Amino acid sequence: MSLAMSDLAGDSEQHLLQIITIFAQALSLSKMRFLGYPTNLEFDYEALAPLLHFHINNAGDPFLGSCYTLNSAAFEVSVLDWFASLWEIAKNQCWGYVTTGGTEGNLHGILVGREQLPDGILYASEESHYSAFKIARICRMQCVKVATLRSGEIDCSDLKASLLAHKDKPAIININIGTTMNGAIDDIDLVVQTLEEYGFTRDRFYIHCDGALFGLMLPFIKQAPRLSFKKPIGSIAISGHKFLGCPVPCGVIITRLEYIKGNMSSDVEIIASRDATITGSRSGHAAIFLWYALKKKGLLGLKEEVDKCMRNADYLLDKLQNAGISAMKNEFSNIVVFEKPQDEEFARRWSLACKGSMAHVVAMQHVTLEMLDSFVSEFVQKRSFKL
Ligand SMILES: Cc1ncc(COP(=O)(O)O)c(C=O)c1O
Repeated sequence: MSLAMSDLAGDSEQHLLQIITIFAQALSLSKMRFLGYPTNLEFDYEALAPLLHFHINNAGDPFLGSCYTLNSAAFEVSVLDWFASLWEIAKNQCWGYVTTGGTEGNLHGILVGREQLPDGILYASEESHYSAFKIARICRMQCVKVATLRSGEIDCSDLKASLLAHKDKPAIININIGTTMNGAIDDIDLVVQTLEEYGFTRDRFYIHCDGALFGLMLPFIKQAPRLSFKKPIGSIAISGHKFLGCPVPCGVIITRLEYIKGNMSSDVEIIASRDATITGSRSGHAAIFLWYALKKKGLLGLKEEVDKCMRNADYLLDKLQNAGISAMKNEFSNIVVFEKPQDEEFARRWSLACKGSMAHVVAMQHVTLEMLDSFVSEFVQKRSFKL
């Protein structure tokens, strides 16, 4: 069931309600087969419905508030404090805000890096999200693509060669805390070691961590590498609609307060606040969605959700391999990568994300074993039909 443009014609109240009902049904159907993207569709924000009667706008610096009284800055600061504690940075040394998503967080983080090191070169692995390369273009930064290992992790021997070729310029590194396609986690410690070994002292490099999905998951995975501001990193960005699950795209950027000066901020009299964010008006609802999800789940709830996603990813990996479909999964990832199905209609039905000859499923919270069973049996059927 889907809506055509012609269905949207007509403007009686009854017709509008009908359209919304049909669209909600179509969304429910799509959700039952939504496997390929790292979006958690398992949430219930009914309790926040009364807030839909209000415009809530967090323009300005969340820590300073603003004279725009319809704001949810208190909720936003509570969310930022939570992430500061998760990623081990003292509240009085931390700054951040609720963004429109991972892309905006990456833009802010990399921009902070460029302001710290104005003639710095951006290094991003080939498996980095496309936003990293777009940001280099927006910021007019020289960008060097670094090769990856088979796992998708940044190849530090290639990084070393690239650093040596541009030794005179500082380095701004985009680290993937989970690549988009196969959830490979770049080794922060090895990157830092490589930088230091080849003469890049701490005042000559800046590390931005793109943790869109895994920035929130890693801290709950036993033996996973530690994501922490105790390491020499400058910023971490995540998407709020990915692991946490929000009905609207949003995200969080956390950086060090000492960087929010010079070109990164200016006082704005009309809102009686400081302008240090990428966008002006910002969703006050997004901050409340994040706050509500964090409070409801708690650390224990989040840990249980991470465990479930990892278990279900292992289940799918086994099932695919047992069915003779070549598949892989990185150790700290809930993304299962496999050969791209030949049947495009099938791939679209299950909302699979495809790249080259590969496709993947991301085992998010709404993905059940029943969904995975149906997916694999349909895949096997289509495949044998083609062979
Ligand atoms: C690694 C990575 N970084 C950044 C992003 C962009 O996040 P958003 O879509 O929230 O802007 C994604 C999205 O999938 C991603 O996988």
